[in-house]
Amino acid sequence: MTALSVFGVDIGGSGIKGAPVDLERGALAEPRHKVLTPHPASPESVVAVVKEIVDHFGHRGPVGLTFPGVVVDGHTRTAANVDPGWVDLDAEGIFRETLDLPCTVLNDADAAGLAEVSYGAGRDHGGVVLMLTFGTGIGSALFIDGALVPNTELGHLELRGKDAERRASAGARERHELSWADWAVRVDEYLDLVERLFSPQLVIIGGGVSRKQEKFLPLLKERPARVVPAELRNDAGIVGAAMAAAKNAS
Ligand code: BGC
Repeated sequence: MTALSVFGVDIGGSGIKGAPVDLERGALAEPRHKVLTPHPASPESVVAVVKEIVDHFGHRGPVGLTFPGVVVDGHTRTAANVDPGWVDLDAEGIFRETLDLPCTVLNDADAAGLAEVSYGAGRDHGGVVLMLTFGTGIGSALFIDGALVPNTELGHLELRGKDAERRASAGARERHELSWADWAVRVDEYLDLVERLFSPQLVIIGGGVSRKQEKFLPLLKERPARVVPAELRNDAGIVGAAMAAAKNAS
């Protein structure tokens, strides 16, 4: 009997990428296919791109999809960095109808966290583990003994009277043209805040900026939590999305 073929799609602000996933290895089964995110990233245009990506592989089987906002029971509830047309939308239903395949939608950082905790920097780690993704925004995924508390949205904690992601995301570093050292100070301030609230034993730093971890991780100060880079890098969202789809299909 062949294993169930599961597909993951990562919907991001700059690109939408997908691939079939090998869930035994926690890795892509084939090189991913990426299409630039349409602008505006309205539900209709994103759904059309997702269909193109899934069709590119001729995939038939469950599909997991990440979304950069709150997702409850397949409904997208917020859209901080994407088109407002996603607010309060039955996204799962729309993907299912368009693709004619079983679909599961979850928050992007939650998906990346699931992958890291199962196959990457957080594997075999009990206790409180926090995955943070630094990209356009800041995403978060909180785990207790491997179980996810979804939609924690810690990027929107208040830091110096602002949404934390406006100050400390990788996007903020670029917007304000901060040096790595100046940005590391902001990230430390943000980590102080989340550490005060959740006392995680392990913090996994992911998102687009994890490619450049050697530029800023050594600049961060010592803290009680161990702070480590994500291991799956760019593929974490796709792998985590496929994990969620496989779980729903079983
Ligand atoms: C959104 C989160 C998302 C994060 C990373 C934030 O602005 O509110 O849901 O996980 O960006 O994309």
